[in-house]
Amino acid sequence: MDSLKIYGGTALTGEIAISGAKNAALPLLACGLMVGTETLRLGNVPDLADTRLMLALLGHLGVEAKKDGDDLLLSGAATSLVAPYDLVSQMRASILVMGPLLARYGEARVSLPGGCAIGTRPVDLHIRAMQKMGAIVELADGYVQARAPKGLTGAKILFPIVSVGATENAMMAACLARGQTQLVNAAREPEIIDLADCLNIMGAKISGAGSDVITIEGVDSLHSGHHSVVPDRVEAGSYAIAAAMTGGHLRLTQMRPHHLESLFEAMRQAGVSVDIGENTAEIRADGRYQAVDIETQPHPGFPTDLQAQFMAMMCLAEGRSKISETIFENRFMHVPELMRMGADITTDGRVAMVTGKPSLLSAQVMATDLRASVCLVLAGLATKGETTVSRIYHLDRGYADLEAKLGACGARLERVSGA
Ligand code: EPZ
Repeated sequence: MDSLKIYGGTALTGEIAISGAKNAALPLLACGLMVGTETLRLGNVPDLADTRLMLALLGHLGVEAKKDGDDLLLSGAATSLVAPYDLVSQMRASILVMGPLLARYGEARVSLPGGCAIGTRPVDLHIRAMQKMGAIVELADGYVQARAPKGLTGAKILFPIVSVGATENAMMAACLARGQTQLVNAAREPEIIDLADCLNIMGAKISGAGSDVITIEGVDSLHSGHHSVVPDRVEAGSYAIAAAMTGGHLRLTQMRPHHLESLFEAMRQAGVSVDIGENTAEIRADGRYQAVDIETQPHPGFPTDLQAQFMAMMCLAEGRSKISETIFENRFMHVPELMRMGADITTDGRVAMVTGKPSLLSAQVMATDLRASVCLVLAGLATKGETTVSRIYHLDRGYADLEAKLGACGARLERVSGA
């Protein structure tokens, strides 16, 4: 397993172009199951371990992916309706093939994804949404077996809690259901809007994406389309925090600053300068900043995917910060690793209290999940000396060209191949 050596203590200065969003690309790739022999052309797809895994799963199901310049062309009728455990267990977002397969082919057999480091991550809301549209769903041998031999029927689906994935699965399935579907208490993330935009380009009739009520009028089929993946707000937010922690000046380009309003508000409260343009954000910090309390919430609240990174930032703040994680039950795996670097953090359930210090200590630390891994990289960048982050395969799931992007801004990083 590879490790990343970080020789920290340098203020990052320069420009970083943001890649397409992993969490938009994964459901968009799943839409490739819905065009049959027509073609879905996707631009700005990030080259990540997770997108490569989704493409492997689509290939297993019969969808061919071809590169055309910077675009990805997806086409092909499904030759299998089974998403096997060995693929699904590597990436839980594989569950997003269930809605498309059920809608287009009337059947889907998808391995239960299992939990991960940040929580049990059930899929009950995905299943209930399919059942509300008339699917017969059984759980057997660790698989979800869903059938709708007469097709799906539009329904009103009220989500008891906001779920990004369940909203996406239900929205894709409803596109080809008979009649109207209403998703109530739907997720409002920018990735939901991006998916709806792409599906509408393919002939779907979706309105309300981005609000908590999404209405879908079913159509008979979807056709070819061309869509570009929305920029990754979590990647952008991670690098914005890197600028603050290292006392640097970074200009982020090819991004959507209004997708990060809650993060930028917290950073401005801390005393960091954040100037936004149409597709840019410029972050300047010249030393220490103030502690700020945050509580993760569904969009447009503070994103849970930036909680670990913001905690790393608060470890160097002046004062105490209260960080509440309301989305996942176990998303503090980065805390013991930050404490190995001398951070002063106490946790009580889903609340962490962080007392900022003037500096951290370089150390050997271990990545446990995708966002925890980048949080440790940020802490290493802000700390003089050599910090080594092990198990950085977690990092490779969600950050394209991280070493090159940060290296171009003065970071000294060295990937070490491990056993
Ligand atoms: C998506 O995961 C993202 N992943 C996650 O990003 C992100 O943290 C999460 O949304 C919240 O924003 C992708 O988009 C691929 P949820 P998802 O369903 O859809 C519970 C990253 O780091 N729940 O919105 O799986 C669930 O346990 C990843 O990029 C159920 O109870 O998240 C959680 O507590 C991590 N039953 C809450 O809902 C269900 O059927 C929100 O989860 C589904 C979810």
